[in-house]
Amino acid sequence: MKICTPSVVRWGAWSILLACLGVSAGGCPSRCTCRPEAKEVICSGKHLNSVPEGFSSDAKRLDLSYNKLKTVGRRQFSGLQLLQELDLSDNLISMMEVEAFQGLKNLRTLRIKNNRLKIIPVGVFAGLSSLRFLDLSQNEILVFLDYTFKDMSNLQILEASENDLVFISQRAFFGLTSLVEFNLDRSNLTSIPTEALSQLPNLTRLRMLRIYIPSLPNNAFRRLHKLRSVIISSWPMLDTLGSSSLAGLNLTSLVISNCNLSTVPYAALRHLAYLRFLDLSYNPITVIQGNLLGDLLRLQELHLAGGSLLRIEPGAFRGLSNFRTLNISSNQLTTLEENAFHSVGNLQVLRLDSNPLACDCRLLWVVRRRLRLNFDGFQPTCSTPDAVRLRQFRDFSEKELPRLFTCRPARILDRRPQEARVEEGTNVLFSCKADGDPAPAITWISSHKNVFSPVGRIRVLPNGTLEVRYAQVQDSGAYQCLAGNAAGNDSLTVGLYVKGVPRNRSIPIFSDDTLIIATTMGFLSFLSSVAICFVFMFFWSQSKGQIKHTATIDFVPRSSMGGGGEGGEGGRFTMKLI
Ligand SMILES: *[C@@H]1O[C@H](CO)[C@@H](O)[C@H](O)[C@H]1NC(C)=O
Ligand SMILES: *[C@@H]1O[C@H](CO)[C@@H](O)[C@H](O)[C@H]1NC(C)=O
Ligand SMILES: *[C@@H]1O[C@H](CO)[C@@H](O)[C@H](O)[C@H]1NC(C)=O
Ligand SMILES: *[C@@H]1O[C@H](CO)[C@@H](O)[C@H](O)[C@H]1NC(C)=O
Ligand SMILES: *[C@@H]1O[C@H](CO)[C@@H](O)[C@H](O)[C@H]1NC(C)=O
Ligand SMILES: *[C@@H]1O[C@H](CO)[C@@H](O)[C@H](O)[C@H]1NC(C)=O
Ligand SMILES: *[C@@H]1O[C@H](CO)[C@@H](O)[C@H](O)[C@H]1NC(C)=O
Ligand SMILES: *[C@@H]1O[C@H](CO)[C@@H](O)[C@H](O)[C@H]1NC(C)=O
Repeated sequence: MKICTPSVVRWGAWSILLACLGVSAGGCPSRCTCRPEAKEVICSGKHLNSVPEGFSSDAKRLDLSYNKLKTVGRRQFSGLQLLQELDLSDNLISMMEVEAFQGLKNLRTLRIKNNRLKIIPVGVFAGLSSLRFLDLSQNEILVFLDYTFKDMSNLQILEASENDLVFISQRAFFGLTSLVEFNLDRSNLTSIPTEALSQLPNLTRLRMLRIYIPSLPNNAFRRLHKLRSVIISSWPMLDTLGSSSLAGLNLTSLVISNCNLSTVPYAALRHLAYLRFLDLSYNPITVIQGNLLGDLLRLQELHLAGGSLLRIEPGAFRGLSNFRTLNISSNQLTTLEENAFHSVGNLQVLRLDSNPLACDCRLLWVVRRRLRLNFDGFQPTCSTPDAVRLRQFRDFSEKELPRLFTCRPARILDRRPQEARVEEGTNVLFSCKADGDPAPAITWISSHKNVFSPVGRIRVLPNGTLEVRYAQVQDSGAYQCLAGNAAGNDSLTVGLYVKGVPRNRSIPIFSDDTLIIATTMGFLSFLSSVAICFVFMFFWSQSKGQIKHTATIDFVPRSSMGGGGEGGEGGRFTMKLI
């Protein structure tokens, strides 16, 4: 039944007549509000169970949101050739028939958000050749089938977030040649739909949130030459990025946040020479290493807020001459040294708050710039030393700075000469203790400029002591301990002289001394010798019917390991069967 409402009257006499006769050409369905001047029909929130009839055929915008529509029938809107925008959001639609939108050849925007769609039969979107924007989010769609969107050559934005997508067929996106933006938040995909995405030649922005995938495989994105912005966020299992996972992409903006990355994916990022914005926030990353981001020539912003950063190494941002914004709020950093940057003169925005900052000379460069740098409203705050605990950077006056933000250079405490003259195979310790503020780092260097690490036969113990295990003749020489902090360095040289002993001792297998031989020969060659020996003994005992318990092996130590002592002379040892 049609009722003549004032709004209809405004559409003129013809409309009144037609509407009163129940003819739809210029009418407005009951329960709907029509705004003829804007050519809008608004039927939102009217408890409609089905699509009403009697729309004015010149309507450009039809809003059917917040009703109780359950189905959209075939050619449901075919009279509305001029319709540009159709909103079916927030209904109970679980079924759309093939060609549901046929005839809407001017439709530019279609919203079907928050319905109950589980499946979209191929052909539902037939005829939507002008569509620019399609919102299918918050449904229960399980799969996108091949050719679902094939007629939509003008579609630019596809929203498919918050569905139950478990599968996107390889040719699902066939025909979406103009698609620029694709949003896929919260899906149940178990892999990246690489093949399907590769059908989107014009894709520029891709957003994928909340997916349970543990790693981004190599070549995850193919043929996406126009892709500039990728947002990967809230993938709680993502801990690995293949080194070629982003190969072929030329991004200007990349977000990989709220994932489980424990290192910056340097290798995967390296080729992104046009990257300007990188956000790795909320990943358990502990360190930004030195000299590994230099290929990101145009990088302007790095966000790594809410991580587990303990250290930003010298040279971390070397080569990044356009670098302007660093957001490392809420980490475990005690300091941020000037030498991490290419040039701190370019730095404009720095979020350093919520870190346990040690306010010493290393942060003087920040506090000196406290009025010029933009802290985005969050002042860095000192954590140590106690005298300045909880003080904000902006509260320091210029004249107290030299007194407060200070360091004490590293100084080696015990400078007594250390010289060890030992026999081959002995363990030797050289101590090196230093004080200073901040606590100095201890480095040991050989006369050949080798830097020793905490592992290996010759290693640096946690207390700074150098340990030489099973001293070899060729270990002889000078060793230098370097103690350094931001304020200054100190060094100390010690000497080691190792005397060779004849090497034909009988050695029981798997005793402590075995290690000497193992380290000397290298474990692999040692173990293979042992294995060969035992195999040999096995066959020997089989053929002889008796077991021999020892065997003597002659060996020529590898010269690179230098195990043989003087002049590469051969050695011999006896092995016992246990
Ligand atoms: C890709 O999108 C741009 C605009 O963003 C448009 O000018 C161009 O024609 C599109 N390319 C294709 C193949 O549709
Ligand atoms: C998708 O994942 C959500 C949450 O993990 C789960 O509740 C839902 O049942 C899944 N749907 C399918 C179809 O697997
Ligand atoms: C994240 O990685 C850590 C180890 O690196 C692992 O123990 C943890 O289970 C991972 N978290 C998730 C949600 O997979
Ligand atoms: C990469 O993207 C930048 C910025 O959008 C563009 O200027 C450059 O030409 C692109 N390079 C290649 C190889 O596509
Ligand atoms: C820094 O990161 C936090 C957390 O992601 C964010 O809320 C804030 O807006 C960022 N600040 C700047 C200046 O980008
Ligand atoms: C350093 O540690 C080692 C092993 O823990 C110990 O033997 C040595 O005495 C310590 N040296 C100093 C100087 O504390
Ligand atoms: C300490 O030594 C390091 C490495 O040799 C050097 O880079 C640094 O400039 C030195 N620091 C001072 C204050 O001399
Ligand atoms: C090593 O062998 C030589 C002769 O081959 C022998 O004179 C010497 O006593 C042996 N040394 C040991 C420690 O067994």
